[in-house]
Amino acid sequence: MSSSLSEFAQDVLAGLARSGQRELPSKYLYDDLGSALFEAITRLPEYGLTRADERLLRVHSPEIAAAMPPGAIVAELGSGSGRKTVSILDSLRARTGHKPRYYAIDLSTAALNTCARELASCAAVIPIEAAYLDGIARVAAGRDGSQPLLVLFLGSTIGNFDLSRATEFLSALRSHLSPGDALLLGADLVKPIPQMLLAYDDPTGVTAAFNRNILGRINRELGADFDLTAYEHEARYHEPVRRIEMYLRARSRQHVSIPNPGLRITIEAGETIWTESSHKFLLSDLDSIAHDSGFRPVSRWIDSEWPFAENLWSAGE
Ligand SMILES: C[S@@+](CC[C@H](N)C(=O)[O-])C[C@H]1O[C@@H](n2cnc3c(N)ncnc32)[C@H](O)[C@@H]1O
Repeated sequence: MSSSLSEFAQDVLAGLARSGQRELPSKYLYDDLGSALFEAITRLPEYGLTRADERLLRVHSPEIAAAMPPGAIVAELGSGSGRKTVSILDSLRARTGHKPRYYAIDLSTAALNTCARELASCAAVIPIEAAYLDGIARVAAGRDGSQPLLVLFLGSTIGNFDLSRATEFLSALRSHLSPGDALLLGADLVKPIPQMLLAYDDPTGVTAAFNRNILGRINRELGADFDLTAYEHEARYHEPVRRIEMYLRARSRQHVSIPNPGLRITIEAGETIWTESSHKFLLSDLDSIAHDSGFRPVSRWIDSEWPFAENLWSAGE
């Protein structure tokens, strides 16, 4: 593969040129427009996940802050707009009387700009435009030994990983942490299938727009000629692995040219491109993941309206 291609072009080439199921990594859903559409999704009546996460954080932030040694700094993986994080930052500030240092780690420039603007009044915000583990490595390397670190991974973004990859990812995260550090992990729980499907296929069509935008991004950034109207949004629940999968299904045969990686493909009528997975968890999954990735569960809170678990795990004594 040519090294002059951007990582985006290489991933698009690898995902679309393959035989079998075509795939695009979900991280590419979040350009400026994608991040704005995701914010709209979090406000949809059908997407109860963000409100559940927010309710749990509002109620339990004082306990979470109290569980951290004084002077703790905060790093959030995939912060997005950081809207829900305000209550944690406020609780940390109430304990010490000064604004905590908050590292927002995200690949989306637009999300980081919003986050830095919205959270400036409650924290010293340091935006880091990087992939999760690169970002946390920078935070861990730059702190002095006396600053305990609270890592936030909210919104069930961990569900974008397969279960085994989630354990691998959290083990790698754990290797950057020290005794006294902690992880707060938000995880969406299994619930009735129609309720889960509606959260990823809303009647307003916002999730469909969010999904199709990945093709729009390939057009804008790589000069491709996808006809966005030729693809249908599809959300399926794959029960054996307990995950929602999002696809784009071609309504008719499509010939697509992507000049930047120099790719020409034909997508047959009915063929799909897999764009995102959102794993739904059992409490036992979370216990196994904590154990297998080297964390010790400290507290867990579950929302009473929308089954969602907020998990506080320690990185050890
Ligand atoms: C599902 S959104 C969650 C946003 C927010 N944390 C929330 O709970 O509402 C995922 C966020 O992670 C970012 N993201 C996705 N993949 C990433 C990666 N590999 N490294 C860093 N950020 C990533 C996206 O840009 C997006 O802002």
